[in-house]
Amino acid sequence: MAQSKENIVMFPFMAQGHIIPFLALALHIEQRHKNYSITFVSTPLNIKKLKSSLPPNSSIDLHEIPFNSSSHGLPPNSENCDVLPYNLVIHLLRASTSLKPAFKEVISSLINQGRPPLCIIADIFFGWTCGVAKELNVFHAIFSGSGSYGLACYYSFWTNLPHNKVTSDEFVLPDFEEASRIHKSQLALNMLEADGTDSWSLFQGENFPAWVNSNGILCNTIEEFDQIGFMYLKRKLGLSVWPVGPILLSLENRAKAGKEGGTSIKFCKEWLDSKDENSVLYISFGSMNTISASQMMQLAMALEASGKNFIWVVRPPIGFDINSEFRSSEWLPEGFEERIRDSKRGLLMKNWAPQLEVLSHRATCAFLSHCGWNSVLEALIHGVPIIGWPMAAEQFFNAKFLEQEMGVCVEVARGKTCEVKHEDVVAKIELVMNETDKGKEIRRKVSEIREMIKNAMKDEEGCRGSSVKAMDDFLSAAISMKNKINGRVNNGA
Ligand SMILES: *[C@@H]1O[C@H](CO)[C@@H](O)[C@H](O)[C@H]1NC(C)=O
Ligand SMILES: *[C@@H]1O[C@H](CO)[C@@H](O)[C@H](O)[C@H]1NC(C)=O
Ligand SMILES: *[C@@H]1O[C@H](CO)[C@@H](O)[C@H](O)[C@H]1NC(C)=O
Ligand SMILES: *[C@@H]1O[C@H](CO)[C@@H](O)[C@H](O)[C@H]1NC(C)=O
Repeated sequence: MAQSKENIVMFPFMAQGHIIPFLALALHIEQRHKNYSITFVSTPLNIKKLKSSLPPNSSIDLHEIPFNSSSHGLPPNSENCDVLPYNLVIHLLRASTSLKPAFKEVISSLINQGRPPLCIIADIFFGWTCGVAKELNVFHAIFSGSGSYGLACYYSFWTNLPHNKVTSDEFVLPDFEEASRIHKSQLALNMLEADGTDSWSLFQGENFPAWVNSNGILCNTIEEFDQIGFMYLKRKLGLSVWPVGPILLSLENRAKAGKEGGTSIKFCKEWLDSKDENSVLYISFGSMNTISASQMMQLAMALEASGKNFIWVVRPPIGFDINSEFRSSEWLPEGFEERIRDSKRGLLMKNWAPQLEVLSHRATCAFLSHCGWNSVLEALIHGVPIIGWPMAAEQFFNAKFLEQEMGVCVEVARGKTCEVKHEDVVAKIELVMNETDKGKEIRRKVSEIREMIKNAMKDEEGCRGSSVKAMDDFLSAAISMKNKINGRVNNGA
């Protein structure tokens, strides 16, 4: 008799920055553990989009639950953060709690068909799913696409709102002093404005306490270098924390999930092939962020003045439609694009670059990044130092961690409104890319981290790395709970 597969239900918040890491986790589990099946739950438009991004040989089951954004005071057809202006994101979050009855129905009906799920893996914003799982006796884990340190700071911040209790610009997180001082400029706008009565505080005030009903947290990180946050989360929540990272989409799957073509991959690679080893600076602020027009101008001037080779993923500055055509003549210094093209010193990639291809290339020396955790992991896996320019969410904490604890980053600017001077940017670029003491030290540290990650991912007989072991531990914990419940049911019968 063929053993039937154990089913895992996955449920991300409706934002690309959440759906993509969940998809990566689903594909990771499917590929390594052939005897698990995955049910991926989301709303109609997100499921439609996911259909075209799954690899053809994937057996992930996409399960749609009803959601009509118009009924929640949102614009029609807005089921994903990416199509909403920033101020409506919280509305989508609040509306997402209305998915509870439909989600509960999905789990109940699986149970009624005699196929109770082995576990539910849900988003950090879906604390309410913990209660559903508990009520229906299903193992539950929260999956965070970010690192432990970033998540720990985020959790501690929202549960304490410590910035309100000080008059100075700096504060410490009262239950997470190991994280040392945090400056108010390291808070995203919704955090800076949080006072306990605003929509974000109210939402998080319900979301985070609900986590106690989960069985644990899966973190997209590596135990060996992310201890501080890891210890905090264990201590604070009294739950298991499984550091299973890095969980990332392969280049192929990413190309499918995005909108990119093979020509830009080939073009980029040929350009890099023509450059010296460790001579190129790669600049990208991720798919969701952009900088202000004046910051863009200063950055362009810095790149020219530095004399370094660079690949820059450009998007229209703040105040313009991020998906509109990039207007070099308007947003960059006069003649910039022509000069860098003629001198072959720089490459402007409009909207997208094959990031993994770039980071893995021998010519790439450093990555000027918004410090989104996926980008961070991709840089670290390839041993590329980071020049940090955090923009939103927990990216400020990531940058702080990378610089102060890991020593693989230098912060060059902070946020979308800070004043940036090109001289300062040049100084930071040279500090990291030149053969300075600091530059050498950073490269040494980042190559140590690269080895740590390699070891954590080792998956050989008798030699499992920490991340592989954490994933196995997580699955065993779920299986053991299920066996216990089955035992109870059988004994009772
Ligand atoms: C899946 O396979 C692994 C070994 O490859 C085994 O340890 C585990 O018990 C299996 N799980 C199920 C649900 O059959
Ligand atoms: C699907 O194909 C890819 C590439 O050929 C392979 O790496 C992966 O393991 C396959 N996935 C499954 C679930 O068989
Ligand atoms: C969503 O709700 C609006 C008004 O509540 C309705 O007009 C519209 O037809 C609904 N859309 C779908 C796809 O059901
Ligand atoms: C970095 O290297 C460039 C080119 O060799 C040189 O002009 C510049 O002064 C150096 N800067 C530092 C801080 O070492």
